[in-house]
Amino acid sequence: MARITAGVTTSHVPAIGAAIDLGKTREDYWRPVFDGYEFSKKWIRKQKPDVIFLVYNDHATALDLRLVPTFAIGCAAEFPPADEGWGPRPVPMVKGCPDLAWHVAQSVIQDDFDLTIVNEMFVDHGLTVPLSLMFGEPREWPCLVIPFAVNVVVYPPPSGQRCYKLGKAIRRAVDSFDGDLNVQIWGTGGMSHQLQGPRAGLINQPWDKRFLDRLRDEPDELAKVPHLEYVRDAGSEGIELVMWLIMRGALNADAKEVHRFYHVPASNTAVGHVIYENTV
Ligand code: DHB
Ligand code: FE
Repeated sequence: MARITAGVTTSHVPAIGAAIDLGKTREDYWRPVFDGYEFSKKWIRKQKPDVIFLVYNDHATALDLRLVPTFAIGCAAEFPPADEGWGPRPVPMVKGCPDLAWHVAQSVIQDDFDLTIVNEMFVDHGLTVPLSLMFGEPREWPCLVIPFAVNVVVYPPPSGQRCYKLGKAIRRAVDSFDGDLNVQIWGTGGMSHQLQGPRAGLINQPWDKRFLDRLRDEPDELAKVPHLEYVRDAGSEGIELVMWLIMRGALNADAKEVHRFYHVPASNTAVGHVIYENTV
């Protein structure tokens, strides 16, 4: 039986990837950010997931205005790191898990969610920076990854409620996969940040901290927060946080928070990172 054993959320700021790739992680500005992931790196070495179901958003890298799937599941065997303007990050090829990905696609689509099936895709910082934060700089990523891209770039984004329910459908899909796999689900992006317009630089620490508490304690209620509240209170890119609700929906209500980290700022973003172990 495949099992979702844990959930991880983390910001995916591209400058974090550049700090790793350029050897700057011990510099004064960056050290406090990376210190927040020391527990996580040890934790994941012990957990040894076989597959990560990695919920992230593409930033007009592989998907742009020509094609805007609300939810896209990567079913390929390999996903190369994208060239985001300075060349592809020097990180390993992302290896997919086609068997589980196709199973999730058929289960979730038959469970009334419309997914776009993607068989060829470059993956940008939304996916590679969380892998680097959790695994450091290995020669090969130590597990398989199913990229699951959510549109939070082109209006309209999916609602928090829909994301939360989708997480539950993903859970049902993984639970019904006939294969002995230790699966983690990750939600990336956030926390509060706005990269554009007159409010560029917006960060809202009280709102973020309340979000972290509610994600753990009352996700059913948190899922009802409308998209306008994210944009108003957490900034135009704060809407990335709806992806954390997909992760949360896939876990049990009483999943245990084993790590929480919050740091302001990294680049333009309030960095948030939590780890939940699922109850069985
Ligand atoms: C930044 C954060 C993001 O989530 C992103 O996709 C791009 C940039 C930033 O803080 O600079
Ligand atoms: Fe982003």
